Amino acid sequence: MTKFTGASQWVPHDGGLRKVTATLPECRGCDLVEDAERVVPGEGPARARMMLIGEQPGDVEDKEGHVFVGPAGRLLDKALAEAGIDRSSVFLTNAVKHFRFERQGKRRIHKTPSAGHITACHPWLERELEVVRPALIVVLGAVAARAVFGTGFKVTEQRGLPQQLPDGRSALATVHPSAVVRSREYRRDFALFVDDLRVAVDLLASDSA
Ligand code: URA
Ligand code: SF4
Repeated sequence: MTKFTGASQWVPHDGGLRKVTATLPECRGCDLVEDAERVVPGEGPARARMMLIGEQPGDVEDKEGHVFVGPAGRLLDKALAEAGIDRSSVFLTNAVKHFRFERQGKRRIHKTPSAGHITACHPWLERELEVVRPALIVVLGAVAARAVFGTGFKVTEQRGLPQQLPDGRSALATVHPSAVVRSREYRRDFALFVDDLRVAVDLLASDSA
């Protein structure tokens, strides 16, 4: 018998965001629960019009229990501000809610979640989407793109271009802020990231989202 079978049995079918956040710590949907310190729930207003979806918590997020509070989060904050988006007005979450890492001595090195982890955790993301019902989903990087659009979506080719999901929801993909943090062409890549976020602002303003 497989030990881990995905999150669905833990995800509530009723209640709101509070219930999602309260039940998340019970999840044992995949093996990531075994080594991470804590689950990191999505954060933001229950009626946010924009939901930004990242990959998974990083080292700092895992220690503090909040989304995007490490280096990628600082860059995201700066980019949101530059695009005229108030961080407190958007809902921030991740495709996978526990930190995946490898130990190297005392350090914990980020490891990209597998397709199996993305699938296992997907019921939580779906529930967040059902509860918040954002007018626009902003997908940050390849892992979130896989969670939202499925396989075959290429962020590098489709970034900044408005997308419509099969159920009619509006979405926009861009890179992950940690890719900008690591970029050797930081200024250019930061500006391109902000450009994509500005497209998101325009989409919401034009009501086409
Ligand atoms: N990277 C993410 O994708 N999410 C976080 O919360 C932090 C870093
Ligand atoms: Fe559950 Fe997601 Fe954590 Fe896996 S990563 S244990 S599915 S919350």
